[in-house]
Amino acid sequence: MTAMRKIHYFDGFSNETDHTIFNLEEDFGAHHYERINLVVRHAKGCWLTDDKGKRYLDCLAAYSAANPGHHHPTITNAVMDALIGNYASVLSNVVFTDPLGIFLSEAAKFAPQMGPRFGNHGNKVLPKNGGVESVETAIKAMRYYGFKAKGIPDGQQEIIVFDNNFHGRTISTVSFSSSKKYNEGFGPLTPGFVSVKFGDIDAVKKAITPNTCGILVEPFQGEGGMKIPPKGFLKGLRELSDANDLLLICDEIQVGMGRTGKKFCFEHEDIVPDGVILGKALSGGLVPLSVFITNAKIMDMIFSKGSDGSTFGGYPLACVAGTASLKVFEEEHLAEQSARKGKILKARIQEIADRSPHVREVRGKGLFIGIEVKKGNAMEFCHKLLKLGLIVNDSHGHTIRISPPLVINEEEMDFLVARLEQVLVD
Ligand SMILES: Cc1ncc(COP(=O)(O)O)c(C=O)c1O
Repeated sequence: MTAMRKIHYFDGFSNETDHTIFNLEEDFGAHHYERINLVVRHAKGCWLTDDKGKRYLDCLAAYSAANPGHHHPTITNAVMDALIGNYASVLSNVVFTDPLGIFLSEAAKFAPQMGPRFGNHGNKVLPKNGGVESVETAIKAMRYYGFKAKGIPDGQQEIIVFDNNFHGRTISTVSFSSSKKYNEGFGPLTPGFVSVKFGDIDAVKKAITPNTCGILVEPFQGEGGMKIPPKGFLKGLRELSDANDLLLICDEIQVGMGRTGKKFCFEHEDIVPDGVILGKALSGGLVPLSVFITNAKIMDMIFSKGSDGSTFGGYPLACVAGTASLKVFEEEHLAEQSARKGKILKARIQEIADRSPHVREVRGKGLFIGIEVKKGNAMEFCHKLLKLGLIVNDSHGHTIRISPPLVINEEEMDFLVARLEQVLVD
């Protein structure tokens, strides 16, 4: 047997060189991510640090997981207390725990009454780990609703989804992806999904059949090119869902929790869906935690003992982080911060875009801003920005995505804008 390597961490910095870290991943990891050549040793607030002490402004924020900033003290302390106090570890799901009960009640109240047409019963919450697991829960919910409430024969249920969607990487979710990169060679793909053009309400209308049981939508497509649907689209989906007795589910894993300047992105159109999926920022980016939230009546109709479950879903450490993160969200007015700063930042970026030979369009809401470049080479700009100490990435090849932690301050915004100016204008 080979000896275990001796690893020492000092303030989060291990004694391994960047070169060793690259090689370890190259040799022992699946190559399923295209990474940039940066080993991050430390993350705090809006900043990431490498082993030379060079700091990078994190304007990607783990695709919204780090909305409250990395290692937010309230969330970190809650997690540390749980570890030190011996109430963090996963327990058999046959027992109750107080972190779970407390988190469920906070998360249920966090959302407005889901599916108000089903009555004012409050919300119920089903917790999972990574976001895609809660997307799967939502898919099960829509299908079972079709079967039980609408009488669709089991196996015939259809769910409407949208072109260029991104809902994760399980077999079901890649089955209805428009991207070959995500599903080629992974067949047989899961049937029962009908994909239509994002933003096209007539296409949705045409796609509805007697077997349609639900609509799954991102209210603002992040991975799909930072695309905001035309005004009235979500309202249209709401009306079609009511008229045809469909469950309308919003995937707010990336755009919820204040990212677009409202608590939930669906609020921009003043609608309430029948269910919402949250993940990423739900635990402040410290441990995996996601939820599916729906009207209590619907949750009770769909899930009975044994029909769902997960060893770690709703385990104490995640629930403690989740409860702390919801508290931080409210106390620090993260949605309001995002709305206010996003307005300023977007105007400043637009001003740069007006002088840039490279930019086609700037679009966004709150601190979720896309800069579409004319030649579809967004990643080239991202690499230049990295050299200048800014972490961003592309969305769909053509758009630079700007989504810093919502706690970004004025000085940090100046840092960001100065670097955008440098690569987009100079
Ligand atoms: C809208 C949306 N849905 C689902 C997911 C999948 O979440 P996870 O990677 O945590 O499984 C993501 C991840 O980026 C997402 O942005």
